[in-house]
Amino acid sequence: MTATISDTLLNWYDKNARTLPWRNPPGAARPSDDAWPYRVWLSEVMLQQTTVAAVKPYFEKFTRVWPTVFDLAKASDDDVMAAWAGLGYYSRARNLVKCARVVAERGGFPETEADLLKLPGLGAYTAAAISSIAFGHRAVVVDANVERVVSRLFNIDEPLPGARKAIRAQAETITPQSRAGDFAQSMMDLGSQICTSKVPRCLLCPVSNVCEGRSTGEPERLPVKPPKKAKPERRGAAFWIEREGSVWLVKRPGTGMLGGMRGLPDDGWSARSDGSGEAPLQGDATSLGAVRHTFTHAHLTLELHAIEGAAPPQGEGEWWPLDTLEEAGLPTLFAKAARLALARD
Ligand code: ADE
Repeated sequence: MTATISDTLLNWYDKNARTLPWRNPPGAARPSDDAWPYRVWLSEVMLQQTTVAAVKPYFEKFTRVWPTVFDLAKASDDDVMAAWAGLGYYSRARNLVKCARVVAERGGFPETEADLLKLPGLGAYTAAAISSIAFGHRAVVVDANVERVVSRLFNIDEPLPGARKAIRAQAETITPQSRAGDFAQSMMDLGSQICTSKVPRCLLCPVSNVCEGRSTGEPERLPVKPPKKAKPERRGAAFWIEREGSVWLVKRPGTGMLGGMRGLPDDGWSARSDGSGEAPLQGDATSLGAVRHTFTHAHLTLELHAIEGAAPPQGEGEWWPLDTLEEAGLPTLFAKAARLALARD
């Protein structure tokens, strides 16, 4: 029975695999060039917590500018951070460069999960995905799509995250010895196209006849999620300091929220756990309104103040010409704030 699930899913994948820029067609021989594991790694890092649609243009830009891991290893941190701007979860970009340098130094990517796990920023999911997809080794790959498919197939109704152990154990039983990478991607495609969260399309599912969750009549109940915590509301302030067609941008500290990215100077909202506090304003401040942005853990309302006649800004920063602001690599929060400031005249 279990062999049947993987055979059926691989068959389905052969006919229905999505065509994606980082993907080898199903069943095709794995490319032998150095760029192949690099493309798999890069796509898997970008796809963490991020949709395929959002990733595609970034993947295309990165592989055009840095076609191999050796090219990326030579890039400056600032260039990589700026190219990542807008994709979110910026610690991924910081780790990406670090990892590229370690891989280039050792002459290429390792193949086993154990060795991949030693690379900076690489966790269990990514190690399993690279080992199976890039190198064809058997590995059990469990992401959120796979969790949904497996919890339904085997009617695992213990709430997450406790259910992860049972989900993993069942995923282990259905992962085939060969084509483990295609199998993992068949589960991902099934999860994103058919076995969807709210309204699963069971009539189109190749394994619905063996799906225990479907036979309960309520597969959409699975996996059982813990109650969502309400996101706290935070407030902060940022400053728009403009002079002769340029705006003052700072480089944010290397760690913490939006770490290492360029941004507008602010009142330190990201360092305060409650996001409270008054802005330490100097000069004459004019309110430009506020922007809202949602992070993983909180909603933020960022008040924007134009500062006129301020003392020259202190600390590390630069005057950035307004007509090339697009190239500054501002993360989405500050890009929204800049749009607000620029819309006022
Ligand atoms: N999400 C994460 N990795 C993926 C992959 N290789 N294909 C499709 N979706 C994915």
